[in-house]
Amino acid sequence: MTELSPLDVAGVDAAVAEALASFAAATSLDELKEARLAATGDKAALTLANKLIGGLTPEEKAQAGKTMGGARAAIGRALAARTAELEAERDARVLVEEAVDVTLPVSRALVGARHPLETMQERMCDVFVSMGWEVAEGPEMEAEWFNFDALNFDPDHPAREMQDTFFIDPPSSGLLMRTHTSPVQVRAALERRDSLENEGRGIYVVCPGKTFRTDELDATHTPVFHQIEGLAIDRGLTMAHLKGTLDHFAKSLFGPDAVTRLRPSFFPFTEPSAEMDLRCFVCGGSDPDCRTCRGTGWIEWGGCGMTHPNVLRAAGIDPTKYTAFAFGMGIERTLMFRHSVTDMRDMVEGDVRFSQQFGMEI
Ligand code: DAH
Repeated sequence: MTELSPLDVAGVDAAVAEALASFAAATSLDELKEARLAATGDKAALTLANKLIGGLTPEEKAQAGKTMGGARAAIGRALAARTAELEAERDARVLVEEAVDVTLPVSRALVGARHPLETMQERMCDVFVSMGWEVAEGPEMEAEWFNFDALNFDPDHPAREMQDTFFIDPPSSGLLMRTHTSPVQVRAALERRDSLENEGRGIYVVCPGKTFRTDELDATHTPVFHQIEGLAIDRGLTMAHLKGTLDHFAKSLFGPDAVTRLRPSFFPFTEPSAEMDLRCFVCGGSDPDCRTCRGTGWIEWGGCGMTHPNVLRAAGIDPTKYTAFAFGMGIERTLMFRHSVTDMRDMVEGDVRFSQQFGMEI
């Protein structure tokens, strides 16, 4: 490459023209940077020519200064103009490329929901926990002895028949799927009888859980369902304590206007026994054609009674010193009338849309 003289006006103009052409040809800011370095960097012809000015005569310096100054200015202007253009292009492109369309539909991942039976079960337990009761649990596969014998069922009681109970093979195992949560009463009493006897600590437990009967699934039956059992053993407990406890339970779940009544009934493990009814919350007892209570004004909620002395004996507790009351109700039934669920199959099928209606209550 022949050296460019700062006095060579045509040569300098040509170098400037070449530089301006390379700026114009640059299509990005990076390319423009390269073109700028080529035209104005340490080794560029114009830079080297500029260095030669120092060795010129004063008259030549004046002319060369003018020529080179003009060249620098032309290059500076061209660079600034092309930089502005390329920056504007980049900004416009970024706006398009990185635009977010906030109106696009998003694919939402469905969140699950706790099953309403589970939250209902907890809600029911909470009423008792807040009164200082304990929550007890027992096995779902249970000894026939706990499920029936200890609860004072006769050996030929019809509930023991094959058509109600899932027995575990072989029959000699003595095992079944518990048909109610009542066997947990006996287990809980056995576990706590020492502190009752030695420390005088009354036994107050609720036992929620799954129960099993050989029913076909339909709108009002399911072979696997849930109950909550209550048991209180202490000195001097009477039916009045039972009634007061159940009233409080009903009001806590159904509101302060809930009304209960006890209706004589029979269970092998209680004497006396009663069914517990709730005042119909649809018609309040005023509509003889009410479909919820079938005109009776009452809805059956569960069974209860004073624990039979034989049950206390089975749990090793002296029925001459202590009395006890117990109750048991279905959690599905409670959910049905607390939330107007009309078909039990909705609770079984596991469609999250059913659960979601009850919210994400924790
Ligand atoms: N175990 C009974 C049932 O499954 C319900 C029941 C009735 C429980 C009376 C009790 C009770 O504790 O005292 O139908």
